[in-house]
Amino acid sequence: MLRFVVFLCLSSSVLAGLGLDAVQYIAPKTFQCLAGNGFSFFAGRLWQRYNYVDNNGVLNIANARSAGFKEIYGYIYPCISSDCPPPEGQVQAVLRALKANGASCDKIFIDVEQPGWPSNSTFNQDFITRMGSELDYQGAAWGIYTNEDNWKAVTGGKWTKMKNQPLWWAEPNNNQDFNGYYPFGGWRMPYMHQYQTDSSSCGVSLDRIWHP
Ligand SMILES: *[C@@H]1O[C@H](CO)[C@@H](O)[C@H](O)[C@H]1NC(C)=O
Repeated sequence: MLRFVVFLCLSSSVLAGLGLDAVQYIAPKTFQCLAGNGFSFFAGRLWQRYNYVDNNGVLNIANARSAGFKEIYGYIYPCISSDCPPPEGQVQAVLRALKANGASCDKIFIDVEQPGWPSNSTFNQDFITRMGSELDYQGAAWGIYTNEDNWKAVTGGKWTKMKNQPLWWAEPNNNQDFNGYYPFGGWRMPYMHQYQTDSSSCGVSLDRIWHP
């Protein structure tokens, strides 16, 4: 039993790390530079809220993999207006684009932040639920990117249906920890923390992410 516990501690310290999200194209060589600067995971934008697959994001996910990154995420900034595909269609388009490029990611986060969402929180809850159900149906692990203000603005104050999905907490307080996290949306703790925005490394404009 003791050995088992030690192993668990070890594996969680191996996972601890710094990550980045960025939207510009990043070549494999640049990912190697980023790894040299201490980054061990990446999150790429897969869908833009103006209604199309983000090809840079798809290529970046493939490039991060080929540069040796072992932990790779994607995120969807959903397109909400009535001329956008339904949530299921947006998920399908993203997964098709990943597959067509031989790219894969470990989790896909649904980006829940303003602007873009209407004031009808029931509508927004349904939209998020449908997007998550499609990700489940397609066998993709997924989570939610948000913070307390955005979550409240988009889904109302009390909705906790997503509490079992990993939370990517967007709170740029410059701290590589979860201190200052006060539970909202039913999440007891975040999965990872976007702790700094508008930063750069290796010539890439990026946001910095930390997880334990
Ligand atoms: C809010 O959205 C729900 C679900 O789509 C819908 O049934 C309802 O009519 C909408 N309410 C308003 C005021 O538009």
